[in-house]
Amino acid sequence: MQSITEIKSLRSQIKAWRQQGLSIAFVPTMGNLHQGHFSLVEKAKTLADKVVVSIFVNPMQFGANEDLSTYPRTLDQDKQGLADLDTDIVFTPTVETIYPNGHAEQTFVDVPGVSERHCGGARPGHFRGVATVVCKLFNLVQPDFACFGEKDFQQLQVIKAMVKDLSIPVEVIGVPTQREVSGLAMSSRNGYLTEAEKDQAKVLYQTLKHAADSILEGELNFDAIRNKAITDLTEAGLVADYFNIAQRDTLKPATLKDSDFVILAAAFLGKVRLIDNIQVSI
Ligand code: PAF
Repeated sequence: MQSITEIKSLRSQIKAWRQQGLSIAFVPTMGNLHQGHFSLVEKAKTLADKVVVSIFVNPMQFGANEDLSTYPRTLDQDKQGLADLDTDIVFTPTVETIYPNGHAEQTFVDVPGVSERHCGGARPGHFRGVATVVCKLFNLVQPDFACFGEKDFQQLQVIKAMVKDLSIPVEVIGVPTQREVSGLAMSSRNGYLTEAEKDQAKVLYQTLKHAADSILEGELNFDAIRNKAITDLTEAGLVADYFNIAQRDTLKPATLKDSDFVILAAAFLGKVRLIDNIQVSI
């Protein structure tokens, strides 16, 4: 595995592969890799000749009071995991390489519509930061395919919309969420939780599943489903940030005319903000 930090070296390797007619799949990450990320790399390997993984904790997508400074950084361990999977390149640029003028002075990408609700409402500027860095990374890596986890379902829809709107020549692939045996979605932020809290946190997925089952059983009073879910989360000691039933593709509030839904939830367990979602079709 090549470990690259400079744009120039990355571009020259990408160019060489292109001259040999090789295809490239890309997995952007913020590091602290777990089985969820590794499943993206495994998927990427099935899609293309070469796999590039980036590790970059992107300051532009963190709000002022969020966990940028404490975000878990485990670079040596991450590189070992990627080498074990025969990743071709791990790209680990510095903040100065990605944002030489600082990210306040950076040209940005805003994706209207799908960015606006859910995490976009709760974390203003978050998806601008995500779309901007992913657009920039796409320009650097120029992949044929890029893999994103469905755990960040809104992020996946934002990237798909950006690629379509800006005619970026990459196929965006969503990969199913990896879960603990308890159902808890794998996430770097689970590392902030004690074992007891991890057990408590499984209620988030249980609540989503219960809501999806209610829809499948014919319950279409979305407010009632939502209120019950928030009560269940609260009783389990979590503080709901949002629990929304949305149209799967637009992420707008679900209506009685829809048949493909995604239920998106975010909740705090102490200071840790957990997100998860479930898709349901009737
Ligand atoms: O999902 C993530 O880890 C990040 O949001 C991403 C896509 C790597 C952009 O920084």
